[in-house]
Amino acid sequence: MKESPMFSYPVGTLATLRASAWIGSLLGLLLGLNGCAGLSASTSLSSPDAGIHSAFTVQTKDGNASARVITSADRCPEISIDGQTQAMQLRAAPGTMPLRSGAQKDTKAAVFPLRSCEAPLPRGTTSAKVGGVSLPLAPAVAQRILIIADTGCRLKASEQAFQLCNDAKDWPFAEVVKSAAALKPDLVIHIGDMHYRESPCPATLAGCAGSPWGYGMDAWTADFFQPAQPLLKIAPWVFVRGNHESCARAGQGWYRFFAVQPWSAARSCNDPANDDEADFPDPYGVPLNADTQLIVFDSSRTGTKDLRPGDTAYGKFLSALQQVDQLSGKMSHNFFLSHHPVLAFAPASQPGKIYNGNPGLQSVMRTLHPGRLFGDEIDVAMHGHVHLFEALNFSSQHPTSFVLGNSGSQNEGALPEVLPAGAQPSPGAMVASFLTRSAYGFALLTAKKSDWHMTEYTVDGKPIIECDLVKSTSNCRRVGVE
Ligand SMILES: [Fe+2]
Repeated sequence: MKESPMFSYPVGTLATLRASAWIGSLLGLLLGLNGCAGLSASTSLSSPDAGIHSAFTVQTKDGNASARVITSADRCPEISIDGQTQAMQLRAAPGTMPLRSGAQKDTKAAVFPLRSCEAPLPRGTTSAKVGGVSLPLAPAVAQRILIIADTGCRLKASEQAFQLCNDAKDWPFAEVVKSAAALKPDLVIHIGDMHYRESPCPATLAGCAGSPWGYGMDAWTADFFQPAQPLLKIAPWVFVRGNHESCARAGQGWYRFFAVQPWSAARSCNDPANDDEADFPDPYGVPLNADTQLIVFDSSRTGTKDLRPGDTAYGKFLSALQQVDQLSGKMSHNFFLSHHPVLAFAPASQPGKIYNGNPGLQSVMRTLHPGRLFGDEIDVAMHGHVHLFEALNFSSQHPTSFVLGNSGSQNEGALPEVLPAGAQPSPGAMVASFLTRSAYGFALLTAKKSDWHMTEYTVDGKPIIECDLVKSTSNCRRVGVE
């Protein structure tokens, strides 16, 4: 495949950028990122294709997809879809977005000097090219599905948590991507929390020196686009939204780049008055084959306490979960994807204590399905948020559940290999088997006749756990030592 011009900025575009004072101050940051190609004086001036920063495919609902291009050119590029050339549409214009409070004391307005462009790729599309480079398309039957979550480099002053973003051992997302891309997946799922660089790196810490921070393009480039390129090039992505991408945090970027819904003023995260709409979009289905689909659920604004009728989030989640029930009735097998775990555990700082699944989601799910929490058609639940691997199989009727949040962001502790006696992630959820690992890694889901198989890999691509999935059960075992 032709080498794409990612991260190069055409001279003509640079001149335009220089004419704009607010972009000028940001340009140094964008061009100064570690590992970026930076300005190429030889880049063609004649075509908007030359300004392409990233080009990728977002898998949307019902087998459709959306081509996405982020460009420094002053207009969106053309795209050739099945041989027919058309202009891509503007999704979000360049600009400095209104300041959101963020999750940290240090905050600044998010600057996006680049425009986001899009074009629909209807189901059945066989080729899509931008600037002569082919965009990846999902096959009608997806058999190899790569899963990552919680990938960004944590810079969080409120917890004095600063990952060494310049050290591939301490922040291994780029290594994870390299190993994962070698497996040649048909589809990539990111189960949320891509953006973690919320605070400036302390001056005394060389390991993250020079890192951009905040919710603008520079931090998004360093945390996601640059390391993710090898996987963005070879497969379409299903993006699941995490709490780091809620409107109050990095939501402005979420809607510019990844959301399946059209960008609009109400869905921009620019005005807190619209957050109740932008933070609770409808769930949707992504078919993997004729009888199995992913159901993508946005849990980005759930909290750590039970929700009650009358709470805004309660009503929003109830409506969304009713839609999940409708969606899951359309297929024989359904994999539920939400960033926050429902039937799983999280380590607590107090010795011997563990947390159960997300109370906000559980409290609403219990209204619709008091025992199982999920409808009967949900076979498997997959999540991120907790920075480790977990596989839970239940002797009760609950769907087997996985936590896959160990793909790069800072480890936050381990779970015991043997759970405390009587541990249940929700009352009545009887854990028949439990397997966990806290080291970094990623997972690959592969079709196996009418069932599925999951392999958990180490950062360098060594299989470490194998799981057979049959309907709503799983059987996992360690296959290697680390
Ligand atoms: Fe999270």
